[in-house]
Amino acid sequence: MCGIVGYAGSRNISEVLLQSLKRLEYRGYDSAGIAVVNGSLEVFKEKGDIDSLERKLPPLNGNVGIGHTRWATCGPPSRENAHPFVSQDNNIALVHNGIIENHIQLRRDLEKEGYSFTSETDTEVLVHLISKYYDGDLHKAVRRALRDVRGTYAIAAVEAHSEQIVVARNENPLVLGIGVSENFVASDVTAMLEYTSDVVYLLDGETAIVSPTGVSVYGPDGNVIYRPPSKVDWSVEEARKGGFEHYMLKEIFEQPHAISETLVGYLGEMEELNIIPHSKLDSMKILACGTSYNAGMVGKYIIEELTGIPVQVELASEYRYSKRTNHCPLVVLISQSGETADTLAACKEAKSRGSFTLAITNVVGSSITREADAVLMTHAGPEISVAATKTYTAQLVAMYILAGRLAHTTGHNSEEIRRLKASLRTLPLKVSEVLDRAADFKKASQIFRDARSVFFIGRNRNYPTMLEGALKMKEISYIHAEGYAAGELKHGPLALLDESTPLVAACLPDHTYDKMLTNVSEVAARGSPVLMIVEDGNTDCETIADYVIRLPAVDPLLSPVTLGVALQLLAYYVAKEKGLPIDKPRNLAKSVTVE
Ligand code: M6R
Repeated sequence: MCGIVGYAGSRNISEVLLQSLKRLEYRGYDSAGIAVVNGSLEVFKEKGDIDSLERKLPPLNGNVGIGHTRWATCGPPSRENAHPFVSQDNNIALVHNGIIENHIQLRRDLEKEGYSFTSETDTEVLVHLISKYYDGDLHKAVRRALRDVRGTYAIAAVEAHSEQIVVARNENPLVLGIGVSENFVASDVTAMLEYTSDVVYLLDGETAIVSPTGVSVYGPDGNVIYRPPSKVDWSVEEARKGGFEHYMLKEIFEQPHAISETLVGYLGEMEELNIIPHSKLDSMKILACGTSYNAGMVGKYIIEELTGIPVQVELASEYRYSKRTNHCPLVVLISQSGETADTLAACKEAKSRGSFTLAITNVVGSSITREADAVLMTHAGPEISVAATKTYTAQLVAMYILAGRLAHTTGHNSEEIRRLKASLRTLPLKVSEVLDRAADFKKASQIFRDARSVFFIGRNRNYPTMLEGALKMKEISYIHAEGYAAGELKHGPLALLDESTPLVAACLPDHTYDKMLTNVSEVAARGSPVLMIVEDGNTDCETIADYVIRLPAVDPLLSPVTLGVALQLLAYYVAKEKGLPIDKPRNLAKSVTVE
């Protein structure tokens, strides 16, 4: 996955391109480059992040340029494999996000025709292909070249003697920003927010020509399409760090707002939301990856508890290749970015198996919003840090809303629905109370100072929350962390627990509380340092735990939210203590648009 940008206008070209690329660094940061049109093509690329590129750039003139920040997929991170790629005659430069699946065959064919290659990438194949079909009209050449291509892409191309950027999209995001005598191109709106909030989303199969004076969008058949711009209501400040040391911390602290914003549109009319099929619902599936999968797992417990509908949660990457054909009336896809390749493919697969698909996502206009039959938007605002925090919490809120909606349909328990709504209204405040205790989490994070491995355990709806706690810990602190259902400990993992392996246990009030106490005591007896997360007023922890985190009392149904926030803070402080690059953990990228 990578980030692409383009600019056509009279601002300082390198400044706009670099600024926009910096906003997209969450999409990849192993190499970067820009191409500027100035009578000829001036191309600069570097291995490393945007700052490395910026340090090497001379002053540049020009009204049109494109840029790229890369997360390596085809060829390792290197200057040679960095974008933009340039045609042999130095006439065309191209940046690309996605994968050209038939690039090996295309490369062989082009080599036979005399083209030579300087990189291992699929993108270089595409620039030569465009060049092959070029007869003075770049848009025509791009459209012709893409007919030979199998795969996914968002591309932007420029040519040496024109003020036009030609862009195209297939299954990778691309947004056009509309300004006054200037226009923008980017993989997502955060890249252009400081210049414009008027955007046009390009759809699969479409191309566009962007110049300082206008933007023309073309359908797959080549005919012009008129699509009015949409207004993005994210402020520039919302997309920045806002005084916090890291985006992750800022985003953790934005959670009360993210919850309120997500609740606002749905709570009042939860029972009427038009997001589920009309057919009888005797089962459903939730498909997602990573953190979104963990949100789905919490959803399973909530939905089953409130509705009695059996819910199967599957990894999108597994579902898409599974052979089962039994009909499932409702399939819910969760993806904060709405661009995760596996989740998109799972959505397509579910539709082809005849299921009604509901997407839960945080990004308006993202690919999944167009793929699914219905959409439930979370309103967490832009999330820059690679580790998902506020988008996860907003996904949990979406799970409660969906559970309430389904409970209404199945005629289950209107008293429960009333209780759920009342509890949800208090949730932003409860999460603020957790955040007020951040200093406690910082202190408790000492338990991990010398740990190389750590276990997170919980039961019932807090079991998946501990999976998420473990994922957060490993993702940003690089400590090996395992999430386990507490009852599973003695079936294997107990063998790993000793004085050097801390245990984090969620012991919050519900019908499994006593069992949790027993499990924690078993571990403490083996010498593992224990951090217990309990509710205010708990005294059992005093004799068992080495460290205690206390959370404000909430409706037990909502404890995954307050617990989830606590675990995010814990992971954050461990990573901070270790001086790690919290917002951009090694080897990871924010949205994973390749398999
Ligand atoms: O955009 P998505 O929600 O589809 O992303 C899925 C995962 O890649 C993502 O949740 C990943 O696990 C997070 N970086 C974890 O913090």
